[in-house]
Amino acid sequence: MRFDLPNGSSVQALKDVSLDLKQGELLSVLGPSGCGKTTLLNIVAGFLAPTSGQIILGSQAVHGPGPERGMVFQQGALFEWMSVRENVGFGPSMKGMPKPEKAEIVNHLLDVVGLQDFKEKAVYELSGGMQQRVALARCLANDPEVILMDEPLGALDALTREKMQGLVLKLWKETGKTVILITHSVEEALLLGERLVVMAPRPGRIHREYRLPFAEMGVAADLREVKKHPEFGQKREEILSMIWEMEEEIMGPAQTPGT
Ligand SMILES: Nc1ncnc2c1ncn2[C@@H]1O[C@H](COP(=O)(O)OP(=O)(O)O)[C@@H](O)[C@H]1O
Ligand SMILES: [Mg+2]
Repeated sequence: MRFDLPNGSSVQALKDVSLDLKQGELLSVLGPSGCGKTTLLNIVAGFLAPTSGQIILGSQAVHGPGPERGMVFQQGALFEWMSVRENVGFGPSMKGMPKPEKAEIVNHLLDVVGLQDFKEKAVYELSGGMQQRVALARCLANDPEVILMDEPLGALDALTREKMQGLVLKLWKETGKTVILITHSVEEALLLGERLVVMAPRPGRIHREYRLPFAEMGVAADLREVKKHPEFGQKREEILSMIWEMEEEIMGPAQTPGT
């Protein structure tokens, strides 16, 4: 993916990126700012057309957005003027689904994300964590094959974030959906990826790939316990150093105050 800028220069946002996802896989994508994570997700979503290369879902080439690929954005992408129930039912309404059928789906999803008691509330009355649960339910209501998430938990406080990580794992396991989750957090990438791709910048590319046991562990166990696993700590340090090196390459070595 190359962006041509108005001043005649261009940015190589992604270069030679190749990924093959199996149905039902949970992939997390990690990398420093500007390495092309959002660009990659937007191409998969069909919001951006790549300069070269293609996205294939099943046997179909992607040429734009479609209901089989659902997106969960960072906080703030809900319909503020609609209730929780209306937000979750938005996709089914657009499809012209009969009301009783829609109500059933919405009710089920509100149970799943634990918001049954809040269904008539307005979005602005909810906490950030609750809003992101609405966003997840709204995405699932379209029954997409693939769920794309761009730092969906990035704006949440630490405790809420941890709870939401558990919910994402639960939904992934229960629905069997394919999930691509972009995150800035090394811990989150380790917890929410059976596969983890670390990207590097300039040009944006895949730097390393891991297969990890932690998502599967987290389905059954407390995430705190998973984080105590020796291999978790070891992978966290390895990847943190990797990202630090990349950041240093971009910003120059960190300066110690007074030197
Ligand atoms: N629409 C655009 N026009 C020009 N450059 C862009 C555009 N979108 C992204 N970029 C550039 O592409 C690179 C990757 O951006 P992005 O995908 O947002 O990175 P990330 O999400 O990893 O922080 C950056 O250098 C960014 O400035
Ligand atoms: Mg981004």
